Amino acid sequence: MAYLKPDKPEKVYVPALRAAKEKGEKLVCLTAYDYPSARIVDEAGVEIILVGDSMGNVIHGYGNTIPVTMEEILSAVKAVKRGASRALLVADMPYGSFHLGADETVRNALKLMKDGGAEAIKLEGGRNRVDLVKRLVDEEIPVMAHIGLTPQSVHKLGGYSVQGKTAETAQILLEDAKMLEEAGAFAIVLELVPREIAAIVTKELTISTVGIGAGIECDIQVLVLHDLIGLSFGRLPRFVRQYANIREVMTEAVTNWMDDVKSGSYPNEKESYAMPKEVKIASENS
Ligand code: KIV
Repeated sequence: MAYLKPDKPEKVYVPALRAAKEKGEKLVCLTAYDYPSARIVDEAGVEIILVGDSMGNVIHGYGNTIPVTMEEILSAVKAVKRGASRALLVADMPYGSFHLGADETVRNALKLMKDGGAEAIKLEGGRNRVDLVKRLVDEEIPVMAHIGLTPQSVHKLGGYSVQGKTAETAQILLEDAKMLEEAGAFAIVLELVPREIAAIVTKELTISTVGIGAGIECDIQVLVLHDLIGLSFGRLPRFVRQYANIREVMTEAVTNWMDDVKSGSYPNEKESYAMPKEVKIASENS
């Protein structure tokens, strides 16, 4: 059997993360949920694209991530796959897709990889997910874990607050991270945890930490694309640095077009089509 070469020599695969950590090189991860944003993010050089269940808040307007379905994630993964050729493509396991036993979890993860083209999956949870992570890794499914604030636990937690702020909970976080590494996860998202704790976890693990609201010491930084470009609604968490205001740009474009239509300046002759001169129009002859 010939081993087909990947299209791009610079394609990012899982081992690149460990190599970057060993060299002290920072990597970046952004979410994408559709073809155009995947292309833009991929072509900009972002190393990891996450089809996150944050899509529940960002593109579906659900208000949280709980209602997101396998079908919604799978459809987004397919579109993102078509737009991304270099970045490592990670698909989030939505709430309910990994709660009904290991076989069902493997089936759903395989669907994201085989049908969607994902190259790894992400799932939320600490020590309670260790067996599941082991099983997925045994089935050749690369796993990114996710601890700290786990938005799928919003009803249990009663909101979105910083996790691991006491010595006891910080210790639990560190233990969870080590157990997930031991189980075979290739990276761990640390969401909303004090920077000091994220720094300790990052130092103690050989796998990469992926920080969101977790300070500068994490190996990889991740943000929700729509927050970074100013295309989301509601109050932004303090860890978001907004680099553009796409909402404003879109509103201006839509308003200007509306004004042009209503004032009669759109469409002009160049923006419409004329009949060929030799064709006589019926109404001219009658
Ligand atoms: O769903 C998501 O986008 C995430 C990131 C914020 C890490 O889980």
